[in-house]
Amino acid sequence: MKRDNLVLTGFMGSGKTTLGLKLSYKLRRTMEDTDRLIERREGCAVSGIFAEKGEEYFRRLETAVLGELLERKQKMIIALGGGTPVRQENRELIRQLGQVVFLRVRPETVCRRLKGDTGRPLLMCGNPQERVRELLEARREAYESLADLILDVDDKSADEIAETLAEWAAFRENVPPEAGRA
Ligand code: S3P
Repeated sequence: MKRDNLVLTGFMGSGKTTLGLKLSYKLRRTMEDTDRLIERREGCAVSGIFAEKGEEYFRRLETAVLGELLERKQKMIIALGGGTPVRQENRELIRQLGQVVFLRVRPETVCRRLKGDTGRPLLMCGNPQERVRELLEARREAYESLADLILDVDDKSADEIAETLAEWAAFRENVPPEAGRA
């Protein structure tokens, strides 16, 4: 059965965590962030997990954490890792978790926001700008195919986006189930 969570997806630097915290406060719902759940479980930062155990291991943890979140009955705000929707298996779990909002961001915005960041192992390379473009392009379809709502976030403040999303969430709650998905 589909759960009632609000799930935030999008590339690194799209603002999932910041927005998730704001929404959690506004809507008085618990917020969970899959990266933080993985870090807690492993007792190690995401960058350390990538370095010591590799990306594949990290991806398996993402799938396990999605499964655990699906077991919970409370209504949550869930911020995913930027690469979580890449696995087909994960996309199916994500759809079951609830309404999915894709925070769409331009590559230039990602590069500006994450300049100097050392916590994103996939961007620790010679040409992070190029990497961002490639990954965004490769993932676009996965993000879009999941989305119940797509929001372009480049030129908006986190407060503005939180306001829009809170209204959207309230509206969705009042749509009778037989009206189906948008
Ligand atoms: C990743 C995004 C990161 C984190 C990991 C891998 C990705 O999460 O899960 O570094 O593949 O895009 P954020 O999107 O929260 O930065």
